[in-house]
Amino acid sequence: MQQNWSQETYIKALKKAAQAHHGQKIPGSEIPYIIHLSYVSMEVIAALNVEKERDGNLAIQCAILHDVIEDTATTFEEIQTEFSESIANGVLALTKDNSLEKHLQMTDSLRRIRKQPPEIWMVKLADRITNLQTPPYYWNQEKIIRYREEAIQIYEALKGASQFLALRLASKIEDYKVFIK
Ligand code: NI
Repeated sequence: MQQNWSQETYIKALKKAAQAHHGQKIPGSEIPYIIHLSYVSMEVIAALNVEKERDGNLAIQCAILHDVIEDTATTFEEIQTEFSESIANGVLALTKDNSLEKHLQMTDSLRRIRKQPPEIWMVKLADRITNLQTPPYYWNQEKIIRYREEAIQIYEALKGASQFLALRLASKIEDYKVFIK
């Protein structure tokens, strides 16, 4: 079976992410943030196992680095120099524009992601699959409902990039109903 990504690529990105996110925790927990990146890349790898036409190295590196511009001091230029232009562009599209009002940020990000190759769409699908776990204890019902609706918006916008991830996200969206009382 031919593999469309390399272990070295994964290691290089994970090392960079571990340094950049050092000291950060999953919100509402004591778990190091990097586990989120490991989950997201794992979801992408599961999809790449069946969707072999995709550029696995691009998808995996963007999965691991998807929050470095948004949440750390890492810059676009740094990613461009150490990785590549296409990875930097992908990570930037996956970064929220904080100059916009909060309720406009998702639509804006999805619009920018849709201009990127399908590998970047896959990362966003995998990110939301990963995030549809038990909500943090401090979220109220309104926030939980909104988060599920946003997941539907992501699904509708990006499902075309990966049948595998779209199906998995659809089932996570269904399961998330248990958190709505
Ligand atoms: Ni994320």
